[in-house]
Amino acid sequence: MANFSMSNYFLLAVAALLVTQAISQRRFNNANYQQQQQKQQQNFYNNPSPNTVSNVHCPEANGTFATSTCDGYIECKDGVGEEKLCADGLLFNPDVRGFPCQYPIDVDCTGRTGTQPPQATEECPHQYGYFALGDATHCGQFKNCAAGRGYTFDCPEGLAFNSQSYRCDWPDQVPDCDAEAFLGFSCPPVAKGFLSEEYRYFRSPNDCQRYFVCVSGKPRMYNCGEGLAYNELSRECDGIENVTGCAPAYNANYDQQLKKQQQQPLQQHKPQVFRG
Ligand SMILES: *[C@@H]1O[C@H](CO)[C@@H](O)[C@H](O)[C@H]1NC(C)=O
Ligand SMILES: *[C@@H]1O[C@H](CO)[C@@H](O)[C@H](O)[C@H]1NC(C)=O
Repeated sequence: MANFSMSNYFLLAVAALLVTQAISQRRFNNANYQQQQQKQQQNFYNNPSPNTVSNVHCPEANGTFATSTCDGYIECKDGVGEEKLCADGLLFNPDVRGFPCQYPIDVDCTGRTGTQPPQATEECPHQYGYFALGDATHCGQFKNCAAGRGYTFDCPEGLAFNSQSYRCDWPDQVPDCDAEAFLGFSCPPVAKGFLSEEYRYFRSPNDCQRYFVCVSGKPRMYNCGEGLAYNELSRECDGIENVTGCAPAYNANYDQQLKKQQQQPLQQHKPQVFRG
């Protein structure tokens, strides 16, 4: 399974997130500060229990606690509770210590419903998150949004962004991606009288360094890598000089074109060989 690490993007997002989180929380707190102080005083005299000195009930003296919504939470310090909201696009995770707001994929929201209204910007549907770009025929890009600013990234060549798993994955595994249109290759039907093989191999019609593996009728693209080409006879990546009709000059050209189109350097797939 080809997955693409998001850790770099994640760090980038977290850095921006911590800054804006601090700012937005301060703003939120200021707005409620006076009101809360009054209520705290009232509550203190009406109900001087150590865990309910504020208007917000604290299950424990210290910690963060879920509310009925997915992105709200209560932060308790020394028994004083404060209602808080995660930044738009993030959800509260009751299972983590430290910074409790995370991407939706990491949070189980069972039993809670609703979030604050989305704060979309021109670049982003939410202030924070990962979002697929393009349509079913262009599935290879995604946007990371941090504080409403969108940063566009490319999946490694041949992979599609899966907004359910936040990963770059085989396009046939991504529900809203049309693998054939995206890769520009359709798997030929299995000839009559032959058993349907699970994996079938085809050299790319455009470029002999790349090849397609048809998995249950849907293509996956592989790149043999520099100096190598797909040899249809051996069904393996071979020296480019060993593959008939694969002139290196032609491929260097194609690679350059492809590199120009993509901002990220190509990440070459290891020539994996499935033998059914
Ligand atoms: C809560 O945290 C404060 C420091 O922030 C600490 O002094 C106090 O002992 C803690 N209370 C409990 C019950 O852990
Ligand atoms: C090309 O073919 C020759 C002869 O089969 C083989 O020895 C050589 O390793 C091949 N080149 C590459 C790069 O695989």
